[in-house]
Parts: sequence; C-alpha cells; structure tokens
Amino acid sequence: MKIAVLPGDGIGPEIVAEAVKVLQALGPLFDLESAPVGGAAYDLTGHPLPPATLELAKNADAILFGAVGDWKYDALARELRPEQAILGLRKHLKLFANFRPAICYPELTAASSLKAEIVGGLDILIIRELNGDIYFGQPRGIRTSELPLFKGTREGFDTMHYSEPEVERIARVAFEAARKRNKKVCSVDKANVLETSQLWRDVMIRIAKEYPDIELSHMYVDNAAMQLVKAPKAFDVVVTGNLFGDILSDEAAMLTGSIGMLPSASLDKNNKGLYEPSHGSAPDIAGKGIANPLATILSAAMMLRYSLGMPEQADRVERAVQKVLSQGLRTADIYTEGTQKVTTVQMGDAVVAA
Ligand code: NAI
Ligand code: MG
Repeated sequence: MKIAVLPGDGIGPEIVAEAVKVLQALGPLFDLESAPVGGAAYDLTGHPLPPATLELAKNADAILFGAVGDWKYDALARELRPEQAILGLRKHLKLFANFRPAICYPELTAASSLKAEIVGGLDILIIRELNGDIYFGQPRGIRTSELPLFKGTREGFDTMHYSEPEVERIARVAFEAARKRNKKVCSVDKANVLETSQLWRDVMIRIAKEYPDIELSHMYVDNAAMQLVKAPKAFDVVVTGNLFGDILSDEAAMLTGSIGMLPSASLDKNNKGLYEPSHGSAPDIAGKGIANPLATILSAAMMLRYSLGMPEQADRVERAVQKVLSQGLRTADIYTEGTQKVTTVQMGDAVVAA
C-alpha cells in the first residue's frame, strides 16, 4: 500500500512523524513517500501544491496530511497561501465525503465543557457532504438591488444547490458507514423550509430502501444543534449537507475535549482519501515538542479502516490510543491534575509500545 505523507507546516511535521512511527510499528506493510505541501512547499518551490506533490497524492492509495498555514504567509496572494494546498487537493481528488468522528474517551471527560454523564463514552460520526451546497451553487455575487424597497442599495446572494446524484452518493456513504457501526443514520436538513432539503430528504428515503438493516431518521438542523449538546449519545451516524455539516461538526468537536484528539477523513467515490487531524498548524506551539499527536494517529487509523481495508490494524491503533490514555499519559492540551504530562515524541512512543 502506497501512502503519500504530506507533513506541511507548523506542528505538521512533528505530529505526522509520530503517526508514521505508529504505521511502521504495524509491520512492513506500507510504502511511505513524503512530499512538501503548504508553506513548506512554497518556501522550496514557490507554490503551495507543487505538481510533484499533487502527482504523488494522485498515485497513492491514501494520503496522510499534517496541517498547513503560518502567519508569515499572510501577506501572500490568495492563490499562493498555504491553505490553497488543502483546497486544491480536495478539488483535484474529488473528495466529497468528510468523516468526523466525535469520540469522548471516558478518561478525558474532565477536559470537556459538558457534564461527564452527557459526553462520557460518546462515539458518533458526522458525515458532511463537501462538494456541493451553498458554497459552490451559482449564481452568487454582490450587486445593486432592483427590489422596490431596497432599490439602489447593495445586496449579496448565494444559491443553495444539490443535485440528486450528489445526495445519492453521500447517502450511500452514510448507510455503508452505519452498517459498520450501530446501524442508525440521522439525516439532518431543513425540509420544512428549503427545497434543497426536500430533495435531500426524498433521496435519503429512497436510498434507505436499499439498506433495510439501517434505521433512518430525520431531524431539522436547528433541533439537531440542540440535541447534539442535550443528548449526543442518542446519535450514531449523522449525515448532512456542506453548510449544516460545517457548523454541526465543529459543534460536535467541542463535546470531546481537545481539538488535538480529533481525526478526520475526506473520501472520494472509491474510498480513496485524505486523512488529517481536524486542527490546523498551531504556529503558537510549533517546534516546542508539546503538540498532541493523537488526532493524527487516529486519522491514520481511519486511513487503515476506510482506504486500506485493514480494519484489524485500525482497531489495534485505536486500542493503543485508549490504553495510553488509561495509563494517564497526557500532552499539555489534555493535561489535568493527577495525570502525567508527556511530549509529542513520548506520546508517539507510548502508542507504539501499546
Ligand atoms: P489551530 O487548530 O492551528 O490552533 C488552534 C489552537 O489549538 C491553538 O492554540 C493551538 O496551539 C491548539 N492546537 C491545535 N492543534 C493542537 C495539537 N495537536 N495539540 C495541542 N494543541 C493544539 O487553528 P488556528 O490557530 O486558527 O490556525 C493556525 C493556522 O492553521 C492558520 O494558518 C490556519 O489557516 C491553519 N489551518 C489549517 C488547517 C489545515 O491544514 N487543514 C485547518 C485549520 C487551520
Ligand atoms: Mg468549519
């Protein structure tokens, strides 16, 4: 299995090195090839996503990505900024399904802002459609209004748009994912108000017939936002569009304690994917050796499960993470009194040992 390793900027190289160590500890299973991306690539080549890096990513079975971005690139033109690398990869590789598991390890309930009984043992999966919706719908723009009441003033407008095939493919992704979990899908929309949501709901109901073993429910997005903090453990898989998913996945992230714990996957139609921690390059702590590598290590576990067909190895990695947490090892972001503070490298070593 060929894995493209793109460490990027800031803490990216530090956390990716630990995930690579963990993958190598599973045995000689992987051909790992690294390439620069983001600001690191800009410094070397003048471009955040050099053709050779894109080529490597295209030809690999999966991509392990660190993070990109740094304040020192703030003055660059938009197309040269490090963040363009991740947007470019998503676009070129047609990654349309974003998976964000929100897991609250029992050992870390103290790090969450919610009560232990609400979040303890939480294990839900938010699936967000990434390529459609109001972010890409046309027409859009800012123009001078022709409406009688507002004539002559400026107005902004965007178009919310989903085509049937786009909803079908994300629906299948959600039902397939639920099959490997607790067999429940909650589709989140705003079907009481929006036509796009009506279509979304129709398609979800139709595709659900192909998955009689899965229980499908529907929820309006405003209620879903409430239920996520009231009774998050009632969910299993949540599937939603790009806009609602953007907001709900960040909301769900906060149920778990630290951003340093949250993995993610972005998949194409063949389950090829890009795996990265949900956080950014954390320039404030880069080079200090204190970043939490667990989000990246857990992203590598997702890669084993979703792209490389190695569910047992994925389980081994996830169990190892759980073990180091129950041993009381904590990087600074998840440290609480009575636990043992460790560095990035020590945390990686502990996962390898476990
Ligand atoms: P950030 O996620 O990098 O950092 C937010 C806060 O969380 C900081 O205090 C940071 O120290 C902390 N943090 C993040 N990851 C951590 C970890 N593994 N262990 C311990 N603490 C951690 O978000 P911020 O500061 O808004 O952005 C910094 C840069 O990252 C920007 O250039 C931004 O554009 C970029 N970024 C890149 C992303 C990507 O590569 N996919 C995603 C989000 C932001
Ligand atoms: Mg967001």
